[in-house]
Amino acid sequence: MASDSYLFPLLLLVALASVATAQLSSTFYDTSCPNALSTIKSAVNTAVNNEPRMGASLLRLHFHDCFGCDASVLLNDTATFTGEQTALPNQGSIRGLTVIDNIKAQVEAVCNQTVSCADILAVAARDSVVALGGPSWTVLLGRRDSTTANKSNADRDLPPPTFDLANLTASFANKNLSVTDMVALSGAHTIGQAQWLNFRDRIYNETNINSTFATSLQANCPRTSGSGDTSLSPLDTTSPTSFDNAYYGNLLSQKGLLHSDQQLFNGGSTDSTVQNFASSASAFNSAFTAAMINMGNISPKTGSQGEIRRSCSKSQLEVSGIETDCCSSEDLSSVMASASFLSLLLLVALATAASAQLSSTFYSTSCPNALATIKSAVTAAVSQEPRMGASLLRLHFHDCFVQGCDASVLLAGNEQSAGPNLSLRGFNVIDNIKTQVEAICKQTVSCADILTVAARDSVVALGGPSWTVPLGRRDSTTAASSTTVANNLLPPSASLAQLISVYQSKGLSATDMVALSGAHTIGQAHCPSYRAHIYNDTNINQSFAASLQANCPAGSGGTNVLAPLDTTTANTFDNAYFSNLLSQKGLLHSDQELFNGGSTDNTVRNFASSAAAFSSAFATAMVKMGNISPLTGTQGEVRLKCSATN
Ligand code: HEM
Ligand code: HEM
Repeated sequence: MASDSYLFPLLLLVALASVATAQLSSTFYDTSCPNALSTIKSAVNTAVNNEPRMGASLLRLHFHDCFGCDASVLLNDTATFTGEQTALPNQGSIRGLTVIDNIKAQVEAVCNQTVSCADILAVAARDSVVALGGPSWTVLLGRRDSTTANKSNADRDLPPPTFDLANLTASFANKNLSVTDMVALSGAHTIGQAQWLNFRDRIYNETNINSTFATSLQANCPRTSGSGDTSLSPLDTTSPTSFDNAYYGNLLSQKGLLHSDQQLFNGGSTDSTVQNFASSASAFNSAFTAAMINMGNISPKTGSQGEIRRSCSKSQLEVSGIETDCCSSEDLSSVMASASFLSLLLLVALATAASAQLSSTFYSTSCPNALATIKSAVTAAVSQEPRMGASLLRLHFHDCFVQGCDASVLLAGNEQSAGPNLSLRGFNVIDNIKTQVEAICKQTVSCADILTVAARDSVVALGGPSWTVPLGRRDSTTAASSTTVANNLLPPSASLAQLISVYQSKGLSATDMVALSGAHTIGQAHCPSYRAHIYNDTNINQSFAASLQANCPAGSGGTNVLAPLDTTTANTFDNAYFSNLLSQKGLLHSDQELFNGGSTDNTVRNFASSAAAFSSAFATAMVKMGNISPLTGTQGEVRLKCSATN
């Protein structure tokens, strides 16, 4: 049995490794199989030309796979497991398995055992949407295939058409998909067909259905179950083979085919999103593509996990006769306890190699001491004044959310003097670090990268988790306007819905939003930022509010009064922020919004009870935040000093 002190770093490494492995990259096959994507696209185009509905069937296959995108849905049953194909939502209903098998055979012909079935599903889903006139997006790649499948997981995770809004929301939230993602993804029902057994009850028994629409369906679908069960009707009657936003227009006139469809527009919280998507095809397209990427990111296997199958319906383990039913939790813990640090480090290295345009080794040859120089300067600044760690972390956030992570926040001008940025600190520390880095490598390391690394080193200096920072950002030559700042950095009066939607617009999920808000486990806020919350809100602990009121007067004044964002451990990067929220001790209105009876309550509970869950979600979200619209290649410049363009 490993001692605690030995096991803890091991677990941390495992956690970090799985954080890093969650990163897929759009260029994954660029060298190993440059023709993979064009091979898949032309095969999908042929299949959809033959039968337009196949586009719908392939899109749905990716969805049914992705509640864990590992191609497990494609595996036939074996002696050791019953696969997903006979699960209730799949049996007699999923289609396109043969098309995928054909595509796989064509891809194997160009690159032997290189491209996973899970990636083929993800690309085929995108190509299907495009073939039917819908939007395109860049598919992140590098998923590997599972070696096993589990019928009961599919029965448990895939939502049935009888679900109400609350169940639908919960089932998507369970996969870290926001309510907006859920509404956008449901727009997939703008193509394809459903069997009568899935909407009979709705057209005979429900009242939130257009009566002419119901009557016309009743004409072909008898009331008694057992007859005509498998006959088909289009999910979008108006344009069943065009990927458009007509689905939402249908919902507005109570012409959703499935009970679950009409739930999205039934006097509830998603009505306005449906109205928005119905009136704006481009709003729908952009939400749909963002949500497809989020869905494609659900628990992929990467690095050395899983396998690359040669044929999508069979695991290589089965092909070679190896037992697939492995890995009880006891087996796993003994594997973990005996694994060496070296192999875990190797896993981390392998995993991070799969990162997007940015790369963790960007300065390895051009400025090998860059990272060490930044780290020692940050550590010195934080030991002099612990709050500086908080200020540097916030600087990176304010940089990334406005015009992307391009160090624009460091330039004097309208961006820096906009409301939310007036309380930023740490500019001098960044200037000093830049001077030290310039001294060893002239005009090589960007200010945007320095901000990103300094944010990570700040978290570490205050006892928080570490992660590998992808690098290669370049600096902007302009700052943003105050309007851009106001549109992208929400005030502390923001509601949960506003928070979710701004993060969503950056490609960050609700879980990322909650995790990143955990940054408020360190640092301070000024009285005007929390005044309204401690005097006007009711979702605040009374004695907590009273103690803050003692120093922060009602009405006005107290502009220089500070309070710690986390009263319990203001200078320690831990998960206390989330426990504070559970006892209604969030300092800002926006903090307490995360735990106020809404969709993020469970995530807050999870992070409050598990420091490891928070650390890993935080590290993942920081990497994602650091990826917001970086300037790369020949874009922008590398500034000589951070406060001015060259
Ligand atoms: C919101 C929860 C969802 C429920 C309850 C649901 C349920 C269903 C049902 C019952 C059918 C008809 C199956 C049949 O009668 O054989 C169907 C078809 C379909 N679903 Fe969903 N679905 C949901 C979300 C999604 C998502 C997220 C996607 C993809 C992003 C999707 C894509 C499709 C497509 C394209 C079809 C037509 C397939 C074909 O014609 O072969 N669905 N869905
Ligand atoms: C969810 C939306 C967010 C809102 C509305 C928000 C708002 C605020 C406000 C009002 C303050 C206090 C400013 C003052 O009174 O001086 C603050 C401080 C801070 N914020 Fe946020 N914030 C958000 C998200 C984040 C994120 C994503 C991070 C980093 C990942 C972050 C890191 C910090 C830190 C570390 C401080 C303390 C800074 C210091 O002591 O110098 N915040 N935030």
